[in-house]
Amino acid sequence: MESTRSRLAHRLAEAGQSHLVQFWDELTPEQQAEMTSDLEAMDFQEINKFFRSAMEVSHSSKQEKMDARMEPVPREVLGSVTRDRDCLKDWEEKGLRCISQSSVAVLLLAGGQGTRLGVSYPKGMYDVGLPSHKTLFQIQAERILRLQQLAEQRHGAKCCIPWYIMTSGRTMESTKTFFSRHSYFGLCKDNVIFFQQGMLPAMDYNGKIILESKNKLAMAPDGNGGLYRALGTQGIVEDMDRRGVKFIHVYCVDNILVKVADPAFVGFCVQKGGDCGAKVVEKTNPTEAVGVVCKVDGHYQVVEYSEITLATAEKRSADGRLMFNAGNVANHFFTLAFLRDIVQTFEPQLQHHVAQKKILYVDTQGRLIKPDKPNGIKMEKFVFDIFQFAKAFVVYEVLREDEFSALKNADSQDGKDTPTTVKHALMSLHHRWVLNAAGHFIDENGTRVPAIPSLKDGTDLPIKCEISPLVSYGGEGLEELVSGREFRPTLVIDESGAHELVKNGL
Ligand code: UTP
Repeated sequence: MESTRSRLAHRLAEAGQSHLVQFWDELTPEQQAEMTSDLEAMDFQEINKFFRSAMEVSHSSKQEKMDARMEPVPREVLGSVTRDRDCLKDWEEKGLRCISQSSVAVLLLAGGQGTRLGVSYPKGMYDVGLPSHKTLFQIQAERILRLQQLAEQRHGAKCCIPWYIMTSGRTMESTKTFFSRHSYFGLCKDNVIFFQQGMLPAMDYNGKIILESKNKLAMAPDGNGGLYRALGTQGIVEDMDRRGVKFIHVYCVDNILVKVADPAFVGFCVQKGGDCGAKVVEKTNPTEAVGVVCKVDGHYQVVEYSEITLATAEKRSADGRLMFNAGNVANHFFTLAFLRDIVQTFEPQLQHHVAQKKILYVDTQGRLIKPDKPNGIKMEKFVFDIFQFAKAFVVYEVLREDEFSALKNADSQDGKDTPTTVKHALMSLHHRWVLNAAGHFIDENGTRVPAIPSLKDGTDLPIKCEISPLVSYGGEGLEELVSGREFRPTLVIDESGAHELVKNGL
């Protein structure tokens, strides 16, 4: 025991992190044992190296704007649901064929801490208040189920879409328990594969690891780009290979509209021979704080709004659109071969980004301090950091109102990206699906509600309408249920048909 302690003390001293054991004598034997095992598992030299290079990159990126080195995405690598309407059917058909051959997997990034939303459980377990009260996890699971069914119907062969779910040390157990409690939402348990991303300590600006209590380091997941290290350490690439997966759709847990394993996106990327693809939505407002996909010095990357000047953000092309308008929504396509190269060769070259945060800490007196301004950094890699290594990068532009609405913040008046805004986005999409299938809505007096809602009463609340993903993945198959019929909201369409929900017995 003593030699373990002195070895550890030596390692800490060498790495300039001896302050981590400053409260050692005050700890119980159990706390000492736990802290020893936490510290033993850490590679301090590596952590210090990450800190130095992350700070260096953050410093140099603050000094130099990217403008002069940027080019927009060229048209030949771009597919668009609005500008390439004629190709959509083909792409979708191609994607469905790949799905029917069980060569498409989906990978969910669910290792975040959801600090802005402020709940103590994983974000995927959040109920945004739909009539069905389905959680984000359930909505995604049911889209997978429905898509498997569509591919099977089209191609007459049983297939599966394996679902890889990346969690972190903080979210793994609760996520697994939730899935098990809900019987994997009807999916086959063996095709839902959980794996865990790494964690890194939070550091102060001098590179000292922060203590969140006398016996615990302040730890945080290493960013959604921690995916690539985790794919290697957890044997996920091999698992995909064993299952015959060739293409992977990667997405974030918080987008309520996500088209999981979107056949048109997959088909487009495969048809174009892409090894790495990004789904984007059009950035229309120059000052919107969204990263844009573009080329920098000839290589693809995402450039954040803060890295360019306003003049560049405002530049327009001949068609009147913003020149840098490919808004990144963290929704990607990769071939397995590309992911394998990343894991085996390129991952160590990825640099951590610096996120300045307010981090709870204990001071030298052992008092817990809640800072009111950022006092340290978390180090994160991003899922899109690997675009630079693509040999055939492709971009697929979709409509934001159809495909992207993210849950980031708790509800507040006029809030952005809240449970209310994402619920409205989903209901508004489902409202449009019903109209497209020739259904109609009427108000409490039996009058038809116009297709384009009036804002005259100052509200822009959507018609209350929810369609189960088990009935429709992307608006298909609704005609027989709604065509020529009139509905009084709330309308719910599920496996048992179309129902009006009547409140309070009225
Ligand atoms: P965000 O960057 O929005 O973070 O994640 P978050 O954890 O959801 O929320 P905040 O910032 O703490 O409020 C975008 C996506 O990346 C995943 C998240 O789960 C989400 O799907 N993510 C983020 C990870 O998988 N791992 C991470 O380390 C960070």
